[in-house]
Amino acid sequence: MDTRIDRRNFLRTSLAAAGALAVTDPASAELVSSAQPGPQLTGATFPKDFLWGTATAAFQVEGAWKEDGKGESIWDRFTHTQGTIRGGATADVTCDHYHRFKEDIGLVQQLNLKSYRFSISWPRIQPTGTGPANAKGLDHYSRLVDTLLAAGIRPFCTMYHWDLPQALEDKGGWPNRDLAGYYADYAAILGKHLGDRITVWAPFNMPWTFAYLGYGAGAFPPGKADYTLFLRAAHTISLAQSQALRALKAVSSQASVGSAYGMAPAYPKTNSEADRAATARYHAMNNVFFLNAAMRGEYPKAFVGAIPYKEMGFQPGDETIMKAPLDWVGFHYYTRRIVSDATPGASAGGAQFGTETELDGAEAAGRDRYTRFHAEMPTEGPLTDAGLEVYPPGIHDLVMQISREYNFPTIEITESGCSYLDAPYAREGGRIPDLRRIDFFRSYLQQLARALAGGAKVRSYHAWTLLDNFEWADGYSQRYGLTYVDFRDQRRTLKDSALWYGRVAAANRLDL
Ligand code: FCB
Repeated sequence: MDTRIDRRNFLRTSLAAAGALAVTDPASAELVSSAQPGPQLTGATFPKDFLWGTATAAFQVEGAWKEDGKGESIWDRFTHTQGTIRGGATADVTCDHYHRFKEDIGLVQQLNLKSYRFSISWPRIQPTGTGPANAKGLDHYSRLVDTLLAAGIRPFCTMYHWDLPQALEDKGGWPNRDLAGYYADYAAILGKHLGDRITVWAPFNMPWTFAYLGYGAGAFPPGKADYTLFLRAAHTISLAQSQALRALKAVSSQASVGSAYGMAPAYPKTNSEADRAATARYHAMNNVFFLNAAMRGEYPKAFVGAIPYKEMGFQPGDETIMKAPLDWVGFHYYTRRIVSDATPGASAGGAQFGTETELDGAEAAGRDRYTRFHAEMPTEGPLTDAGLEVYPPGIHDLVMQISREYNFPTIEITESGCSYLDAPYAREGGRIPDLRRIDFFRSYLQQLARALAGGAKVRSYHAWTLLDNFEWADGYSQRYGLTYVDFRDQRRTLKDSALWYGRVAAANRLDL
């Protein structure tokens, strides 16, 4: 199995220039493109209590992979398998955040940020995914949360950012429906022990991504490529999402539960009926599949034909179980997609993951039979060092689309950021003058301010990410951090973009 992800090669070979963008009728609930952003905004203010924040994920920053009783996760197993990660890297140590979290939270505080989104590693809490809680694991997160609260920072907890206990994968992983119940037990443990101090919870980070890349395309652990397994995994995850919400609320009256979905605004490649319908399927499948399940108790129309309930393992009554309206809607924004209709049998390259990039691919046997769309990432705009197009209007369009479709919910931007490889510059005293990252954040935040002015209720923005870290299959070859990490000695240096972002947070406005 070749699980390496060659994003550059992919970009060279498969990205065609995007066709004309269609501006669709807002009443049809399709995305309205604002590719022409209008006059350049020079400054922007944010609501008084807007939360400026940053995000991390346990596996990417913690290290300490077998300390204090932690069990093995599927990502431990995957990274310890030769040939899966660029440079043969592992996350056994990564940023050593497990031991250095106080220093790191000090950086968050220094940047005037008021929200820190982190994830809890399930195998630290239940080493094999079921059974009693590991006290040392709970103590760790309890200290982390206390440190945040003492610094005046809101702890935003993602309960699952992809590191499933390996023992549960050995029982079949997410395609096994029993995992929904195990996950609810885990949620209850978290709520019981930490729910007095954590009030903001997101059950899953990017559920579509880990379900599809793990079971449908084989690019993530456990490396399976079978569309039916993906469908079964997706259904278990949506049951787990709602059961976790109820489990948390049963033990913690203050629990406020939302999400951290990966989303990309999708624009039709041409104005043809077929491409517009394919774009709607993309949105339904990749953006709002789990959101709709929670909010409305039904899956959106992501498939060409009927919803494949049988393949999903859907049982009578599941629509009631999976309905659990979220208190707020959280999603990430990195870049956009251009979508076209795919005829059966046509296949693109392999499935990709470049931050949240994922494309339909030949390994995803049978995918076209169900969703039949083809998604491309355009390269019209400047590209980050990870090869993603910088597309500022996308955040405006996406926020407005979700606002319209879900009746103007409270929104949290759970991640947004860019990889640039700027390193300390000796001639300037070791500063990191990452000007492209400043431009990136400035342009994205201007567009977010536009959405706020348009009536969207966005209450936070989390820059991905606090520290340069282990970037999944890319290993350490990408640097998304506001802080430069020297992995030889773990020294942290705030990049110029961090200092800039900290000033924006303090001023609560963008005119710097
Ligand atoms: C997001 C993931 C996060 C990180 C960034 C770059 O999709 O949630 O863990 O990989 O992309």
